[in-house]
Amino acid sequence: MLSVEQNERLTKVGPGTPMGALMRRYWHPIAGEDEFVDRPTKKVRILGESLTLYRDKRGEYGLIGERCAHRGVNMAAGIPEEDGLRCLYHGWKYDSEGYCVEQPAEPEGSTFKNKIRLTAYPVQVLGGLVWAYLGPEPAPLLPRWDIFVWDKVFRQVGSTVVPCNWLQCQENAMDPHHAHFTHGVYGSYIIERMEERGIWVPDYMRRVVNRLGGSRAVKNGFDRFEHGVIKRRLMPGETEESENWRIGHPMVFPNMTRIGKKGWYCFQIRVPLDDTTTWHLNYEVFDPGPNGELPEQTLVPLFDVPIMEFPDYILGQDLIAWSEQGPISDRTNEHLGESDVGVIMYRSLLEEQMAIVEDGADPMNVFRDPELNQRIDLPTEDYGALRDYQEGAAKYYDTGPHGHVEYMDEVFLKAKKAELNEAENGG
Ligand code: FES
Ligand SMILES: [Fe+2]
Repeated sequence: MLSVEQNERLTKVGPGTPMGALMRRYWHPIAGEDEFVDRPTKKVRILGESLTLYRDKRGEYGLIGERCAHRGVNMAAGIPEEDGLRCLYHGWKYDSEGYCVEQPAEPEGSTFKNKIRLTAYPVQVLGGLVWAYLGPEPAPLLPRWDIFVWDKVFRQVGSTVVPCNWLQCQENAMDPHHAHFTHGVYGSYIIERMEERGIWVPDYMRRVVNRLGGSRAVKNGFDRFEHGVIKRRLMPGETEESENWRIGHPMVFPNMTRIGKKGWYCFQIRVPLDDTTTWHLNYEVFDPGPNGELPEQTLVPLFDVPIMEFPDYILGQDLIAWSEQGPISDRTNEHLGESDVGVIMYRSLLEEQMAIVEDGADPMNVFRDPELNQRIDLPTEDYGALRDYQEGAAKYYDTGPHGHVEYMDEVFLKAKKAELNEAENGG
């Protein structure tokens, strides 16, 4: 149970708040490049600030204040030019550093424009996402986590705007006990409701729900490591030699979780838009291995993952749990038990890292050495080998039928066949 003050300290992310200061030490995704195919501007909320993201005619992104400094028109309605964004009302033009560079209606020779500057923040592109940094200069490097930079994979991003505070989404990353209930027991209940209503229940959903509902981890472990916390679990019948225990998978500080299995890897990224809204990105990477034939990918598709009444996919079940904790979970009324050790550990890690920022130093996962940022590899246990792949399974990881995985299923089945053939032929 937390005090009101402790809960606010951990949840509020606006300018001038302790958590806002910690979060401003990191790059955050603010858009998918996919969103700029049809429209060159986007209204952005991030860490409680309202901004305009645009792509100029050269294809470069700029992130500037929400409204024109003249008379307040939203800049997202403006006109992108070669090297800046022009307001549609009287034509004031801004460059990507927020400087006003033209005021067509002012007298020739006027220096009025030199007094005008909008907020502006640096942006970079990586892995099909546009990232922004809102913190103190000099900006650290944009971390090149492994799956953002791997070659020969297929990527897709499931996107959900969740109507609740970011912390309850991310606390889920340190809460392994929910898997059996939310995805097994509640999953079975959803199947019953679907059957009652005559909604078709795919086999792959039954398989996963039965597996998660039919077993629970006999032991869970949490260990600090350089990038966050490694989570381990021991399933019935497994020894501590199993990958589930020996390798585990990480909560990547401050707001990501890495999950996956052989052939499919994912970052769940919980981006605080403001105190009561979180952008959840399910960044999925399909890697069918050397036998997989992948289509050339020029754009990473970003698709909506809805919050549904009867979520027939795993992430949807989590989305219900998080949003039903309320806009900001009232932690003054919670009752944490021994099974909540991971959540408690995560909160103290947040406190520790906020204190580091308050002392003026760089917190965990701030990178400044390009040598160490070529590719940052993370451990992920492989608990489902490609040869165990079952038809349709890709459609249930993790955004289910809402993604673009129809043909990944085919790619996996082909790759599996090739792997089995090779094994048979002693390859
Ligand atoms: S309101 Fe933008 S130029 Fe006048
Ligand atoms: Fe979950």
